[in-house]
Amino acid sequence: MLIDSHTIAREIHEEVKKTIDSLKYLPRKPCLAAVLATKHPASQTYVARKVKACHEVGIESKVFHIEPTSTKELLNFIDTLNNDPSIDGILIQLPLPPHIKLLDVLMHVDPSKDVDGFHPLNAGKVLLQDPSAFYPCTPLGIKVLLERKSIDVYGKHVVIIGRSNLVGKPLATILMQDAPGCNASVTVTHNKTRNLQEITKTADILVVAIGKPLYIGPDMIKDGAVVVDVGINKIEDASKKSGYRIVGDVDFDAVRKKCSAITPVPGGVGPMTIAMLLKNTLKSYLLHNNIHNIHE
Ligand code: GUN
Repeated sequence: MLIDSHTIAREIHEEVKKTIDSLKYLPRKPCLAAVLATKHPASQTYVARKVKACHEVGIESKVFHIEPTSTKELLNFIDTLNNDPSIDGILIQLPLPPHIKLLDVLMHVDPSKDVDGFHPLNAGKVLLQDPSAFYPCTPLGIKVLLERKSIDVYGKHVVIIGRSNLVGKPLATILMQDAPGCNASVTVTHNKTRNLQEITKTADILVVAIGKPLYIGPDMIKDGAVVVDVGINKIEDASKKSGYRIVGDVDFDAVRKKCSAITPVPGGVGPMTIAMLLKNTLKSYLLHNNIHNIHE
């Protein structure tokens, strides 16, 4: 089975839109502020996609292109967003320029507007299963995608390759929770793991988030496993007009025959990340408007 997330992401967009439409009596619409502190073309594309999705569901968005010369300058700018009552969500597009201290920035975003779920308070709340937590969008998107595709992780062995703060670590935390759509036994592997193949071959569900194009072949996978590919890599391809193509961390064509379900790249996890950003922005809007009786 191909786990194409477009249909599910669209369903979630519709759900968010419906809730926002039902709240038209409120004096203002939900609003997301996106900060772009680099000129990376990929970051610009991602932010443009997020803005478009916001527009489609009735979330206002404001994009700030800035070139901070110091961490302090960026922190001051974040203060203005934190203090602006018309803004529900603040998204600092990563990566940041190398002279900016990432953790200082993430810690400066008001946790109640942290729709990316990157603030340490939200990371802690996720760990403790506090319902007010903002869950980071990509791992949450993977959990929701599996749930909506009726791929039950309950009691299964999930192996995650990659221990990033963005994907690997929070995904392990989420999937091992005692909560609906979770209860997996999770193994996290990384670039110092010995005998990686021995471990990946025991995975019922393998999630790959390492940023290495086409790294995972069929020899790494158990027959019938589910494979979730989080990688987005550009590789040269002279047959394309652009001179490149986008591939995942998994060698899709070689692996798909061996597994029971697999996410394509593009079109697998990416649309879910955006759908979860919309859901988190709506959640923030509801909390800021003291609305607690709507399940967003
Ligand atoms: N860069 C790569 N993924 C993400 C994400 O989910 N949020 C932000 N803000 N930046 C990213």
